[in-house]
Amino acid sequence: MKIDLFLTAGTLTKADVKGKAVVIIDVLRSSTSICAALENGAKGIIPVDGPGQAGEIWTKIGPDTAILAGERDGVKIENFSLGNSPGEFTAEAVAEKLVIMSTTNGTPIFEKAASAKLVLACGLVNIGTVVDRLVETGLDLVIVCSGRNGGFSIEDTLCGGMIIDLLERQHEVTSKLNDAASLARLLYRSNQENVHDTIASGEHGQYLQEIGFEADLETASRVDSIDVLPVLTEGRLVNMNDAEGR
Ligand code: MLT
Repeated sequence: MKIDLFLTAGTLTKADVKGKAVVIIDVLRSSTSICAALENGAKGIIPVDGPGQAGEIWTKIGPDTAILAGERDGVKIENFSLGNSPGEFTAEAVAEKLVIMSTTNGTPIFEKAASAKLVLACGLVNIGTVVDRLVETGLDLVIVCSGRNGGFSIEDTLCGGMIIDLLERQHEVTSKLNDAASLARLLYRSNQENVHDTIASGEHGQYLQEIGFEADLETASRVDSIDVLPVLTEGRLVNMNDAEGR
């Protein structure tokens, strides 16, 4: 399995993803919120770039079926129903709804990856479920770290390294890594006993704690705590476990 990891999404092109499986990682916090929403019965999540685009889609779909979620600088976007704390995506808030989500770094990447053969959203909370599917498909893999404001993010890269470690050590996959993938694997293997502390020490982890979202770091660090497989299907992230009756 050829594995290319992108430390940020800025240079990702359609050619990079053609015919491949793409895993988009945004541990803090959109991947984690997407998993929480699907676990709590959301029909799907529509990941979009900007708040304006989100509002247009919401108006078309209608408030009975859709709900707006997202943040800028970590704080709920004005006039949106939800921000981006995983704990907001309760069954009461999202069950049977389409969640239209706009976040700073994570959600805009899905459009860039849409031409891939398979696009998955991954956090630490659902990493085992994602890795199992990657093994099943056997596709060459592109791992995209959302990063932070176009820069490196330690939590996303650590999660990417954990995916590679699980593929190699748990599933005995023979991998061919690019340098960024090798770096991510090293980062994970050097910190695998301190996942939460490593995340909390990162720039975004520290920022979220400063603005009162420490609980989100606890939630986002719980490895394999949510068994959902968010797959991009016709512009929506749906839980493929449900769709396939798994
Ligand atoms: C992101 O898109 O980088 C995150 O979701 C931002 C956040 O929720 O704090």
